[in-house]
Amino acid sequence: MYLTKEEENILNGEHGETLQKAIEILVALGDIYNADSLVPVKNAQIAGVSYKTIGDAGLEWISDLNGEVKVPAVLNPAGMDLQNWDKMGISDEFARKQQEIIDAYKKLGVNTKCTCTPYYLGGFDTRYSDHLAWSESSAVSYANSVIGAKTNREGGPSALSAALIGKTANYGYHLDENRIPDISIAVESELTGSDYGALGYQVGKMVGKRVPIFYLNNKPSSDELKALGAAMAATGAVALYHVNGVTPEIQNIEFEDPVENITIETEQIQEVYETNSSIQGDDEIIALGCPHCSRSELEYIAHLLENKQVDKDVWICTSREVAENNPLIVDRIEKSGAMIVCDTCMIVSPASENYKLMMVNSGKALNYVPGMCKIPSKFGSLEKCIKEAGDSNKI
Ligand code: F3S
Repeated sequence: MYLTKEEENILNGEHGETLQKAIEILVALGDIYNADSLVPVKNAQIAGVSYKTIGDAGLEWISDLNGEVKVPAVLNPAGMDLQNWDKMGISDEFARKQQEIIDAYKKLGVNTKCTCTPYYLGGFDTRYSDHLAWSESSAVSYANSVIGAKTNREGGPSALSAALIGKTANYGYHLDENRIPDISIAVESELTGSDYGALGYQVGKMVGKRVPIFYLNNKPSSDELKALGAAMAATGAVALYHVNGVTPEIQNIEFEDPVENITIETEQIQEVYETNSSIQGDDEIIALGCPHCSRSELEYIAHLLENKQVDKDVWICTSREVAENNPLIVDRIEKSGAMIVCDTCMIVSPASENYKLMMVNSGKALNYVPGMCKIPSKFGSLEKCIKEAGDSNKI
């Protein structure tokens, strides 16, 4: 891989051990994937934040680094709400370790907003064709597909390395030739809301890490695209997809119709709703906001919860910034007894393990809850989830 003189100097340790370690990671990845050079990135989103997932070894690795990130960088969700962790049933010990991780990132100049939807953050400017180094899989999918930016699915250490160097290895989705659709997906029925998570759940399993192009009967909203991409990245490894006539890049590139075609039938979408649908339980939690809720999703949840008191624990996960920018909506939601949970999520927080069953409206969460939280998950529309949360005159 070609390195500039300056990059060679960093690799030789002339700018200190931290930058040397960082560029070594990028060069190793570049060598594995045949990158021709490093490419400057506009910003980075760094996974490897929850103490539940990285443990003491991860904390030690980050704490040993010195220096300052060269491009704006934010964090993936942590293992707890950084302000209201006690309300989640998080132990003092976990909270202390989690805060140490956050402080270690802060010391490196990382903005410690913890979210998988960094594209909602004010000032974290991300646009069409920008090169990025993002690591959370749903955020990567959204950046590549909905925004039309260019990022590989970085690991936590490589995203942090990219932030410290301001560059990443130029391979994979940074190259136009890897962004062309190679399988087409036709969908029989008209979809709405959580149907997109169900669709992604099924398609991810079928296409693995290929680049699908969807032919849909209706035009999805950006929240629906977010759900589709998140689920495909979870059950498969899809980091980029296109929707004919909707997502931006496909309207600007020339491509031949993929040879391979799949049709998704209505029953296949329905099947996802039936996963564990017969399981009921007192120790059930309803967890919404995977990926983190947008303002419009919060608004709709507030509407559904109006005049209602929930009698199960209900978490609504979002970024602290989105919650703080919408205090009236948050108040309306919290009046029902549902909890707005910031900085974390149902998958990366150990608090989920206090329950016996989780109902979600996210194809990604449906897939990860059993493995990561060690409890069964079931899937419902947002309306059904709210309905199961308690009695209501409204629904
Ligand atoms: Fe985000 Fe957690 Fe889901 S990181 S995409 S809410 S698993």
